[in-house]
Amino acid sequence: MASMDWRKSVVYQIYPKSFNDTTGSGEGDIRGIIEKLDYFSKLGVDYLWLTPVYESPMNDNGYDISDYYEVNPQFGSKEDLKELLEKAHEKGIRIMMDIVINHTSTEHQWFIESKKSKDNKYRDYYIWKDGTYDQPPTNWESKFGGNAWNYDKQTNQYYLRLFDITQADLNWENEDLRRDIYDMINYWIDFGVDGFRFDVVNLISKGEFVDSDGPGKEFYTDGPKVHEYLNELNRNTFGDKDIMTVGEMSSTTIDHCLKYTDPERNELNSVFNFHHLKVDYPGGEKWALANFDFLELKRILMEWQVAMDEGGGWNAIFWCNHDQPRVVSRFGNDETEENRVLSGKMLAIALHGLKGTPYIYQGEEIGMTNPAFKRIDQYRDVESLNAYSILRDKGMDASHIMDILATKSRDNSRTPMQWDDSLHAGFTEGEPWIEVSDRYQKINVTHALEDEHSIFYTYQKLIRLRHEIDVLTYGSVEPYLMDDENLFVYTRIHEDESIMVIANFRNKEVPYPENISVEGEILLSNYDDRKDVLRPYEALMVYGQDE
Ligand code: GLC
Repeated sequence: MASMDWRKSVVYQIYPKSFNDTTGSGEGDIRGIIEKLDYFSKLGVDYLWLTPVYESPMNDNGYDISDYYEVNPQFGSKEDLKELLEKAHEKGIRIMMDIVINHTSTEHQWFIESKKSKDNKYRDYYIWKDGTYDQPPTNWESKFGGNAWNYDKQTNQYYLRLFDITQADLNWENEDLRRDIYDMINYWIDFGVDGFRFDVVNLISKGEFVDSDGPGKEFYTDGPKVHEYLNELNRNTFGDKDIMTVGEMSSTTIDHCLKYTDPERNELNSVFNFHHLKVDYPGGEKWALANFDFLELKRILMEWQVAMDEGGGWNAIFWCNHDQPRVVSRFGNDETEENRVLSGKMLAIALHGLKGTPYIYQGEEIGMTNPAFKRIDQYRDVESLNAYSILRDKGMDASHIMDILATKSRDNSRTPMQWDDSLHAGFTEGEPWIEVSDRYQKINVTHALEDEHSIFYTYQKLIRLRHEIDVLTYGSVEPYLMDDENLFVYTRIHEDESIMVIANFRNKEVPYPENISVEGEILLSNYDDRKDVLRPYEALMVYGQDE
């Protein structure tokens, strides 16, 4: 395939379980992705990132891998995956796999062995520590609730699990483990994949195992040997190959991310961080309701933009993924069709003008909304179900918890892709594993493609611009009006070209700022004409070139 500077590429994230079901099982599959390749060509994306499709008991929907070398039969076969690669490549689309190397499922053979005895060859592949029956080794908290250690009576020790009980953390101190991981990654490179997204990869190096004043993050986030391990991973696997990499970095810092992505250090190409997606966590608490803090959103995004630009790092830029609610419901307005479309486009323009690799999560390009589930039995996500019982135990009113889940649950983004207005939105001919949003009759791909004013075509245009206009890729970033309560404004500058993005985040008219001139060619906007005020959710991308 013709090579292009990877920095110009745009990635589309697929959550296979909810994407397209070709067998009637109620769950999506790899053949369902193959069936939609023309759709991606039409949108214009360069990479498809598939969340994990390996063998797994699916307690965390594939992030609990029990065999790295096998495809989960629920999704299809290795032949299907091979065919997906070949057919995608024919269309100039590359495939990125999701690799989970911080932990495996407790059903992985390594863990099954590890658990057997203290002197088992695989014992040291995981993190086992002493404690007493009711006193775990440390007070660290699992990210999915509860203590992070799980007692195993067979050997009278605890294993660490930062996520679900069935997701045991791997011990990266162990050289054999590291070698096995590199072999596995090389297997997928030889198989023909074009990139990797590394799940929570900044958690692989654990420091001291002592009690914390908080949930324990400081002992394993961006840990002592993380850069050394990533460099070793790079040298032993993808370093000398045309493979795009992105690391998911949990609660990280700019300094670490500059290191992770410094080309001289040979670690990774790019990083996801999540600080800008915590601006609706009051006091840092996810399971609580609050309006999002717009000034904080701008401050965080821009701090990362400028620092990563100046320091030679590289961000992944995104609003949505399978762990986040739908952005149009979150930072936009999904209450009326008009506002959904306006704010969906505004959010796209605001994000896609930034520096970094843009990621689009399935359904974002048609403005899919949170499904507004009303009952706990509509939820499937382990984190959400845990949160429900923890909050209930604390005495919170059930209907209040339901309101929180309806805005915060990861299932908000995991409902089936809405293809058309037929039963189950054309996702499956069976019973979907999770309910389809009841707005599918209006919000679906078929309608979006038929309507030249749909959100889809804004994304299509943004992707085309990213490919065609260098300043979007290479331009420096300069924020404006950081104290303005309504507008998100920045410029990008590269050689003789400039871009200005101006986006009204509010459902009201806002005057153009006095001290900024918005002159030049309008590359893209979500209104057909221009007025002397910015209308509700109006956004413009303006291009300038020196004579
Ligand atoms: C990442 C994934 C998330 C998963 C977790 C544990 O954050 O995106 O879905 O639950 O890691 O693997």
